[in-house]
Amino acid sequence: MRGVTTALIYGEFAAREAAGESPAYENLAVAVSRDAHLIGLLDTLPPAKRQPNLLFAAGRFLGAPVTDPPAFLEFAAANWERIAHEIRRRATQTNEPARCALLLPLLAALPQPLALLEVGASAGLNLFPDRYAYRYGDHVLGDGGPLLDCALTGIDPPSRLPEVVWRAGLDLNPLDVTDPGDTAWLQALIWPEQDDRRERQRAAARVAAADPPLLVRGDLVDDLPALAAKAPAEATLVVFHTSVLYQVPADRRRAFTDLVRTMRAHWIAVENPTVLDHAGLPNPPDERLHNVLALDGRPLAWARPHGEALSWFGDRP
Ligand SMILES: C[S@@+](CC[C@H](N)C(=O)[O-])C[C@H]1O[C@@H](n2cnc3c(N)ncnc32)[C@H](O)[C@@H]1O
Repeated sequence: MRGVTTALIYGEFAAREAAGESPAYENLAVAVSRDAHLIGLLDTLPPAKRQPNLLFAAGRFLGAPVTDPPAFLEFAAANWERIAHEIRRRATQTNEPARCALLLPLLAALPQPLALLEVGASAGLNLFPDRYAYRYGDHVLGDGGPLLDCALTGIDPPSRLPEVVWRAGLDLNPLDVTDPGDTAWLQALIWPEQDDRRERQRAAARVAAADPPLLVRGDLVDDLPALAAKAPAEATLVVFHTSVLYQVPADRRRAFTDLVRTMRAHWIAVENPTVLDHAGLPNPPDERLHNVLALDGRPLAWARPHGEALSWFGDRP
């Protein structure tokens, strides 16, 4: 039954995740689900390593033709050892700087200056919300780095950028924006049709590479207090995370939320509604996937996963 399960995962990915977002990955996932040889090879990997995003990113990283399913299957069979090597040593660590547009309304409203501590930071691209430019409808703010577009409803757009005096990230596997292998992997994780996201990530990586943030290898529970202790006492400490907790087991998620509530810090979360227990959420704006933006455990807005829209329903910042 093992092969059946992996084939089903690829079929589900095609129908639920790639459909409407990436015709290339939808076609590719269907083709993989029907290819007994590749399914057999995937089943030699640990279960967590069999997922479509890892296989496809490893393929892209190695130059596989991901828009041509028969050629991809041929490439995968001929280069399996190289693909398996990349899958084993890498993880889905997509770093999306446009999520800063979701954080900005809260960051701009907190007492300045700020000390930013991001858990699950990947390469740390979300540690530079003060160095990017933003467009909320007609309202443009900032003039550096990538221009981040966000459709904001329910509140006025922020009127200032935050003043950041300290920034640090914690990750099980921090990526280095000055390392060509790491940046190539970050680019490979973005789906084939999403050239705008690739360009945005490149622009953000240039900002980060000019002044690399402190990134610490560690766990978001075990290693958070020691890193937080390094923040300057005169700044407002903000612990934040975006699209991280779905990768963390439920008991460790609870340990993290218990810990962060005891810290002398503000806590901003942008996470899938299934991973944090928010009581009384209103209905999301539409049937597409939305995450929840929360401050200090209070849900405030629905957020599209890549930062493209923010629909405010809670107290004004
Ligand atoms: C999907 S990425 C999101 C990266 C970034 N927050 C963003 O939104 O662009 C999730 C990151 O969380 C990290 N991560 C997962 N579990 C973690 C843990 N227990 N402690 C620290 N980092 C973790 C992963 O290594 C990965 O880099």
